[in-house]
Amino acid sequence: MIEQDWFVNDEGQVQSWPDRSLPNKRAQTYRLYRFLTEVEDILAMTDQDQERLQAIYPLVRELLTDSAWLQYEVQPPDPEQGWSVTMLYDEPNFPLTVQTVVWLPGQTSRVHNHAAWGVVALVSGQEKNTFWQRTPSTDHPHKIAEMGELILNPGDTISLMPEAIHCVEALGDEPTVTFNLYGLSDYQARYDFDPVAHTAKLF
Ligand SMILES: [Fe+2]
Repeated sequence: MIEQDWFVNDEGQVQSWPDRSLPNKRAQTYRLYRFLTEVEDILAMTDQDQERLQAIYPLVRELLTDSAWLQYEVQPPDPEQGWSVTMLYDEPNFPLTVQTVVWLPGQTSRVHNHAAWGVVALVSGQEKNTFWQRTPSTDHPHKIAEMGELILNPGDTISLMPEAIHCVEALGDEPTVTFNLYGLSDYQARYDFDPVAHTAKLF
């Protein structure tokens, strides 16, 4: 299977990242704490989210290859909600969210942005992403229009800019498992959208 790396800009447009050269094999196992240190270093180096994502997504791929145990750190999905989240690292005032997320087959998320940059890697299952763009009008400042869809397969990654609006659906008959990394959310700009009523509410 071809593993692909995708990028979604603030307008909900999808493109694939250009081919990257494989990093040299590390002398030591690429452990979670080294990964977090390197991500922190990247954040200190640039405040441009696209540059950050471009530097971080190859590290996510390396981490999941070298520290495969992370892929199995998952809680069974809540049968009522249809999903579950497992925090992999949590520290007060730490600028990153690192988690695995499981969705039951057939479940669909709300339409939302993250108000933070994010990298998501699909570990298992198949996930459909639908993207949206803001098309505000005088009457409906939170009006959005559908931009397109992308189906993620295991091994694919998707890097999201903070204003990228999407929803996800677990396709097929097995749960989806994803590894998710996010920067700091601006909760004054983090919305759930209603694409029919053209409204949004803060998350
Ligand atoms: Fe999301």
